[in-house]
Amino acid sequence: MTLIFLGDIVGKGGRNAVKALLPELRREFNAQFAVVNGENSAAGSGITGSCARELLEVADVVTLGDHAWDQKGFENEINLFDRVIRPANYSDTQPGRGYGVFRNPAGGEVAVIALQGKVFMRDSAYCPFETVEKILASLPASVKTVLVDFHSEASSEKLAMGYFLDGKVTAVIGTHTHIQTADARILANGTAALSDAGMCGAEYSVLGREVDAVLKKFRSGMPVRLPVVETGKIRVDGAAVTYDHITGRALKIVPFSRYVGL
Ligand SMILES: [Fe+2]
Ligand SMILES: [Fe+2]
Repeated sequence: MTLIFLGDIVGKGGRNAVKALLPELRREFNAQFAVVNGENSAAGSGITGSCARELLEVADVVTLGDHAWDQKGFENEINLFDRVIRPANYSDTQPGRGYGVFRNPAGGEVAVIALQGKVFMRDSAYCPFETVEKILASLPASVKTVLVDFHSEASSEKLAMGYFLDGKVTAVIGTHTHIQTADARILANGTAALSDAGMCGAEYSVLGREVDAVLKKFRSGMPVRLPVVETGKIRVDGAAVTYDHITGRALKIVPFSRYVGL
């Protein structure tokens, strides 16, 4: 079987591109299950109920990251969505949940776990290694397919997580940097690893934001509003993981970038 994962979706441009392309990507890769990171889907920061509903029209599960609570009110809505997960290593007092076991429409189940890194990140998350160990121990033995979205800044932490989970999960795919890395591999014990899936957002932008505004911010050192680029060429970055659903071992990982609005 094959699953598709898409990196951070930025704004309306990213959402529209994903809605247009994900059905095609499913056909191209013969993928039965799709997970997308929606932490920037609402105007570039966070997610709303209506954005979540939009993304769930084409995706099976939406993951979040450090921007999970940027949209005021989503903390009151997240529990309405059993297919939206925020990082699991947040305080248990936070609403929502950090993992779930989801029915694969093609048969069987897929566990999806969202984690946030600690290196160069806000220090509000618990140890992701300890957290994921506990989650894996609690999953029913019948669940063989496990996808981890590791939302973090440092490629070292992400690759380390890949090795930590090698042979225990199907894939560890990173998000958060919005830049796809060139390190896709199948580790020795059958776990697919990719440090970052990339972004679904404007091609001519800096991580989805207007180039001129970002330059002004970097050059001046002043706070500058960073508008999201919603038009023009939009890239859709992600990876397709083919796996043996009996063992949960990954067989192949194919990173991709596609474009709309050419
Ligand atoms: Fe992001
Ligand atoms: Fe992030």
